Amino acid sequence: IFSDSKSGSLSVAEEIATLIKKKQSENKNCVLGLATGSSPIKVYEELVRMHKEEGLSFSNVITFNLDEYYPMNKNSVHSYYYFMHQHLFDHIDINPANIHIPSGTVPLEELHQYCIDYDLKIKEFGGLDFQLLGIGRTGHIGFNEPGSHYNSGTRSITLDHITRIDAAQSFLGIDNVPKKAITMGIGTVKKAKRIVLLAWGYNKASIIKKTIEGEITSEVPATYLQEHSNTTFILDDESSQELT
Ligand code: F6R
Repeated sequence: IFSDSKSGSLSVAEEIATLIKKKQSENKNCVLGLATGSSPIKVYEELVRMHKEEGLSFSNVITFNLDEYYPMNKNSVHSYYYFMHQHLFDHIDINPANIHIPSGTVPLEELHQYCIDYDLKIKEFGGLDFQLLGIGRTGHIGFNEPGSHYNSGTRSITLDHITRIDAAQSFLGIDNVPKKAITMGIGTVKKAKRIVLLAWGYNKASIIKKTIEGEITSEVPATYLQEHSNTTFILDDESSQELT
């Protein structure tokens, strides 16, 4: 628990940078699972600063993003493709071929196979070394909404109404928020060797209590993280205020 999101974010960026450098010294790739949304923005800001000011290189980094709205055009300001390039990829030396973000334009009839292939690609790279997560008020991680199976893989999902309400402001109205998304599964996320979940602010306090202190249930998919042996929740004073 940190006093604010800034100090929490700096410590997570430091952990990621240390991992990237360790892998570099071993001549290995570093496979990162990445999240979008407001929670990781300061982590990405700090990684960009480390690249520009301290020479941190991302040349050995392979990334897999958690999710994307469906359907969604890459060039839309609402796409997670756009978000990731704006906040991170456009400012670092990552090889564009190493960036993987679920595509919001895959034809419907190819979607099932596309999702299977996304998981296979993660496996081919040796699995996720580090997965960064945020958490939604429904308890979703990625877009694994309530009802998600603990062993689910990457797939298309119908977004929960609360999730669409939370996105409504940036889409200028709930009617503009897509009803579906592609998301890595709970099973995909849980195979990561290391997981760090970020939650900032009072409006996450209630779901953080349920996630950490509640029973493991598909009604709060983030509770599945209780079964993962190397997960850390990085909170601020506000998001942790309901913890006993
Ligand atoms: C985003 C994602 C979502 C968000 C969650 C929290 O890639 O997978 O699970 O992490 O909705 O969003 P923010 O950080 O905007 O509160």
